[in-house]
Amino acid sequence: MFPSSTREIPASRAVPRHVAIIMDGNGRWAKRRFLPRVAGHKRGVEAVRAVVKHAVERGVEYLTLFAFSSENWRRPADEVSILMDLFLRALEQEVGKLHGNGIRFRIVGDTTPFDPRIRELIAAGEALTARNTRLTLTIAANYGGRWDIAQAAHAFYRAHPEALAADTVPPPDSIAPYLAMSYAPEPDLFIRTGGEQRVSNFLLWQLAYTELHFTDLLWPDFDEAAFDAAIASYARRERRFGRTSEQLANAPGSRLAVEE
Ligand code: IPE
Ligand code: IPE
Ligand code: MG
Repeated sequence: MFPSSTREIPASRAVPRHVAIIMDGNGRWAKRRFLPRVAGHKRGVEAVRAVVKHAVERGVEYLTLFAFSSENWRRPADEVSILMDLFLRALEQEVGKLHGNGIRFRIVGDTTPFDPRIRELIAAGEALTARNTRLTLTIAANYGGRWDIAQAAHAFYRAHPEALAADTVPPPDSIAPYLAMSYAPEPDLFIRTGGEQRVSNFLLWQLAYTELHFTDLLWPDFDEAAFDAAIASYARRERRFGRTSEQLANAPGSRLAVEE
């Protein structure tokens, strides 16, 4: 189990241990080139490859990429179907390579509406790479932060019927082990490309104390230099977790337990 940022202060590090990215701007990238949106999504997959490689090189341990939100079903049916097709092909072509590079692959989100073939490939890919330790790459697909909190609360009460009977507010940290990404620490750094400054129902719970970085670059243009710039920006932040600057100066990098 990883500590919760509202209970225990994580150790400070120059390189974020967990980076979560909203890969936005594929459509606009294509539109600027008078290309169909699908061309942007295809280039987006290439950008993913480069970013995964760079995350490994920089020593990031967890990389989480938002590929399809629970609200993206609202898009035109032909775009949804193209995105599903690209997802299927990426699963077919990339999982073996990820495994070859020692990367653990995970999907978070409600996969029940996906095509059975996609679900099979996800299960096979997760099983194949389960013991890899180099980088944990999580793809959020049909993921919504509200869905995650709701399903975690449900799972918590199923496991703790006495808590339901007690009719009291459970300690927030007791819900966290049931979140879809309980296998990872909370993100240290959140990046959103494409210029919008919003969270769009991504990891709502886990972003409580995450450092936020927004860039106007469109996702297909997000490269190693842009990734390094985000990491450099992160390294300059003072993560106080509710404390004062003076406290930090007196106890740099300390791992203080929060008083209860
Ligand atoms: C992000 O790019 C990819 C997905 C949401 C699947 P968009 O498709 O949202 O691109 P823009 O925001 O329209 O440019
Ligand atoms: C967020 O991008 C979801 C993904 C990148 C998968 P959107 O393009 O769907 O977000 P909004 O609609 O602009 O908030
Ligand atoms: Mg978008």
